[in-house]
Amino acid sequence: MSQIESVLQENRVFAPSEAFVKQATVSGMEAYQALCAEADRDYAGYWARLAKEHVVWKEPFTQSLDESEAPFYKWFTGGKLNVSYNCLDKHVEAGNGDKVAIIFEADGGEVTKVTYKDLLSRVAKFANALKAQGIKKGDRVIIYLPMSIEGVVAMQACARIGATHSVVFGGFSAKSLEERILDAGAVAIITADEQARGGKHIPLKPAVDEALDLVAGKSAIKSVIVYKRTGGACAMKAGRDVWWHDITDSQSEVCEPEWVDAEHPLFLLYTSGSTGKPKGVQHSTGGYLLHAVLTTKWTFDVKPNDVFWCTADIGWVTGHTYITYGPLACGATEIVFEGVPTYPDAGRFWKMIQEHKVSIFYTAPTAIRSLIKAAEANPAVAPKSYDLSSLRLLGSVGEPINPEAWMWYYENVGGGRCPIVDTFWQTETGGHMITPLPGVTPLVPGSCTLPFPGIQAAIVDETGADVEWGKGGFLVVKKPWPSMIRTIWGDPERFKKSYFPEDLGGTLYLAGDGAVRDAKNGYFTIMGRIDDVLNVSGHRMGTMEIESALVSNPLVAEAAVVGRPDDLTGEAICAFVVLKGARPNGDAAKAVIKELQDWVGKEIGPIAKPKDIRFGENLPKTRSGKIMRRLLRSLAKGEEITQDVSTLENPAILDQLKQAGS
Ligand code: WTA
Repeated sequence: MSQIESVLQENRVFAPSEAFVKQATVSGMEAYQALCAEADRDYAGYWARLAKEHVVWKEPFTQSLDESEAPFYKWFTGGKLNVSYNCLDKHVEAGNGDKVAIIFEADGGEVTKVTYKDLLSRVAKFANALKAQGIKKGDRVIIYLPMSIEGVVAMQACARIGATHSVVFGGFSAKSLEERILDAGAVAIITADEQARGGKHIPLKPAVDEALDLVAGKSAIKSVIVYKRTGGACAMKAGRDVWWHDITDSQSEVCEPEWVDAEHPLFLLYTSGSTGKPKGVQHSTGGYLLHAVLTTKWTFDVKPNDVFWCTADIGWVTGHTYITYGPLACGATEIVFEGVPTYPDAGRFWKMIQEHKVSIFYTAPTAIRSLIKAAEANPAVAPKSYDLSSLRLLGSVGEPINPEAWMWYYENVGGGRCPIVDTFWQTETGGHMITPLPGVTPLVPGSCTLPFPGIQAAIVDETGADVEWGKGGFLVVKKPWPSMIRTIWGDPERFKKSYFPEDLGGTLYLAGDGAVRDAKNGYFTIMGRIDDVLNVSGHRMGTMEIESALVSNPLVAEAAVVGRPDDLTGEAICAFVVLKGARPNGDAAKAVIKELQDWVGKEIGPIAKPKDIRFGENLPKTRSGKIMRRLLRSLAKGEEITQDVSTLENPAILDQLKQAGS
């Protein structure tokens, strides 16, 4: 693991304030260590205790952890529950129905507040509408919606009737939708006419129509439910498409939850892997809910008076766990935001924190970096121009946060008084894995610090052996945990190969990230992906996926995609392309670059568009024909090639690809 070396020389340490520690749910290092010790003593018993305390079960479970079919672990066998009951009915029954559950702010600034009682009634009505459409327990339902109350309602309604949802981010293309419809075997799609972002209306439904044309005769889709968001033009196909309000308004407000087994699949969420098509990560009901609740309570220290805001989209796992499920299961008041951080100006986040008195704010480093830039250019949109005194805790997720951005966030947004929880986790882990607890952990900028109590994170070498602190290696988790991925939908072999590789002994969960522990205090720092997965603005993109999209263009003979560091987006996508025709120059090259960028935007989604495209007559390959990606990475960064190129078949190509970038 010589390529992974700690670049972090960070000496600043920020201990939590006494006042924060005093009121925190997990208060003080001793409390943290006691939880870790409890898990060490009796691992299954620890999680069983928490599952009894933090989840409402219709029928109690009889076994905490079943390892008989490892690595297909099962948790809380025999238990029956419903997630939507835990998120809604529970609070209404406890007399908290009038508490605001969601403060929704639309792109244009209109605010709608929904109480727990209202939300329950909306979920129950829509759940009844889904049932009336013939959707039943175990069916897969695609949700392709903008950020909205309806998005949360749709997910909760699926959970209520035991349908397994698969949310597809609204920025993904018809082609991506097509792939997911088929892979999931979905029977229905819930979408909207258009989405409103940054003052513009962007059509959504046409992508569904196009996807359904592509899958004609192959898919199980029976109905398309369309939420009228903007009222813009929207073609409806008779016998297939129905308006959300038409099928929902007259439904009963009562819908008995479907009590499902703890292992019942709550959702599939597709994410990029290092090879082939996106993987349908399958999550359970009981274990997932437990971790969503626990991390919301312990990492975010959510209390009854907090106003919680996670800025993620429900199309990503962060929006699942920390918008739709965790905060609602904890009975919190949360913000759901439709728009973008830079509209009408880059002060939008700070203005919303001020207006809604947000106390806990959770966002991504890429957003922070872009807002730093905007604040430097225009003090009117800087955090100091707003009253952010309601904030008491900040969070970061999705990619490593560089210490400079961390310090800016800490001082300018948190006023030097709010702890920052830098939460490391993944679509596959369901919730936080390595993170500070705000009333426990002294913070070091750029480090996600220590494992969540009970999570057995470690760093190992190529053989699966522990490496000593201070040395880099593969980040693994040594024991199963309740909210872990259960399988890759329809591909259990790929699940085993991807996450429990034999090289490491077959029992360690391989996260796919490189990491290092501080030699003194054992704090974890994530060094980034060790596989062919890029992290662009906190979004996972497989290089293979982008390469397949490029080579499906008729002009392209061959393509290789690598990442290079980018100040704003963390990593930027850089594509090396061999065209079937001659290598273009000047304006002709620019035109082809634009065409290929748009092509990838259409094949996958705008987030996958390569920032740089360079043309060569060939790619650097070994004599056995393997593309030498490490050379491409150096070229993309503009580095001098110092590596050994003796195995390269066509060294001259390096000069060509170097020039193409200048
Ligand atoms: C990266 C998002 C450093 C990491 C929740 C991981 C992070 C991938 C952090 C998962 C963090 C996420 N520090 N890196 N705090 N959080 N990552 O599945 O590379 O979209 O493997 O889940 O994001 O991305 P995913």
